[in-house]
Amino acid sequence: MSANHKDIVHGQWSNRFAYILAATGAAVGLGNIWKFPYIMGENGGGAFVLVYLLCIAIIGIPVMIAEVYVGKKGRQSPMRAVAKVAKENNAHPLWQSFGAMGVLAGYLILSFYAVIAGWAFAYVFKAAGGSFVDASPEYLSDTFALFLTSPVQLICWTSVILLITVIVVAKGLQNGLEKATRFMMPGMLFLLLVIVVYSGFYGEFAHTVEFMFAPDFSKLTINSVLTALGHSFFTLSLASGVMLMYGAYLPEQTSIVKTSIWIAIADTLVALLAGLAIFPIVFANQLEPSAGPGLIFQTLPLAFGQMPAGRVIGTLFFVMLVFAAFTSAIALIESSVAWLVERRGYKRPQAAVLAGFGLWSLSLLTVFSFTGESWALVSFMGEGKTLFDLLDYLTANIMLPIGGLLIALFAGWKVHSNSFETELALAPVTYAVLRVLLKFVTPLIIILVFVNLIGLVKF
Ligand code: PFF
Ligand code: NA
Repeated sequence: MSANHKDIVHGQWSNRFAYILAATGAAVGLGNIWKFPYIMGENGGGAFVLVYLLCIAIIGIPVMIAEVYVGKKGRQSPMRAVAKVAKENNAHPLWQSFGAMGVLAGYLILSFYAVIAGWAFAYVFKAAGGSFVDASPEYLSDTFALFLTSPVQLICWTSVILLITVIVVAKGLQNGLEKATRFMMPGMLFLLLVIVVYSGFYGEFAHTVEFMFAPDFSKLTINSVLTALGHSFFTLSLASGVMLMYGAYLPEQTSIVKTSIWIAIADTLVALLAGLAIFPIVFANQLEPSAGPGLIFQTLPLAFGQMPAGRVIGTLFFVMLVFAAFTSAIALIESSVAWLVERRGYKRPQAAVLAGFGLWSLSLLTVFSFTGESWALVSFMGEGKTLFDLLDYLTANIMLPIGGLLIALFAGWKVHSNSFETELALAPVTYAVLRVLLKFVTPLIIILVFVNLIGLVKF
């Protein structure tokens, strides 16, 4: 152990594999299994999926590469890392604001993420207790509605999630974050596959494939495009301080490009698998694909209630969902914790507790938005919208795309080519393509989507 506290903050992943697991753990989470299916359902299926896949390929991957690069060069928490890299490249210190915005976005995201993770935790016990066995769709949606209107339960589950997150992060990089991700990811994937196979046999699989992969562009609105764009950032954990932070812990020799592509592919596969697991059950039971955030909590239990060994599989599934959420929650809190340690001189455990307490307080906004106290504050978003909807929209659809825009502009225009090119070690043509994507394509697409949106949506 070094005596210098900077060295402790700036520890590293043990190796390349540990980084891939941790970063994939940060990427794969509720965004893939909970959010992607329901927003796909709300936005009409195939055309939305196509836009989402394009966003991942031409925006998400380049932005991830840029973000990890800045983190690796900066070797500190996001704001300070960006400030350092900006200085090295003679860019204006104001650029560090996107580091700050990222950390803020990450913090806000975790405030609702922890609540949803709490739902998953509660459902572990519902599944294990056998409450899904032979349950009807009506019974399951009533159960869910009842659960959402019980603030005490929601607060308890959220607290448990935040508490464990704080404990893991307090333990540090190698003893906390790495250990937690090592066993959580493989199990998750296995159980997801089990459910896909079940859905393939017993659900409307062909209908699902058509729904997900036959694009009907008449269903695509500009808001759907923005949702797809925002979700491509959300799902890859971009523009939220996370990949900057995880990049700061990258061992020197690890390839940024290869690992980024792997992480993006793994994340996308899990999202598509989640769609293939869930929609066959939705269609087979005439459920509503556009049911919203409750979708998986009302549909999957139906399958668990009927399949052989469904009680065990259902329990394990929700356990794995909790794991997937944890490996992302840890990532979301890490940059705030690192910042508190660096800037304020707290010890890691103190910083974790402090950050956790702030999150716990913020999470109450989401809790009460589900228990029915829909505040007038958000009435401009339309009937029935809640504070949760506002937080979700503000972070995923506004802050993350703007953050992504700034990262792309920074890496595309401000970072000197020689250091960037050497670090990425790409063939000249590939590097040129990446640079064009960051300089022009990503900013233009994001700006166009926003301009279009402002032209269409009147607040
Ligand atoms: N990528 C995570 C998911 O898809 O569930 C969510 C997330 C984690 C978003 C970390 C943002 C973030 F910084
Ligand atoms: Na994800």
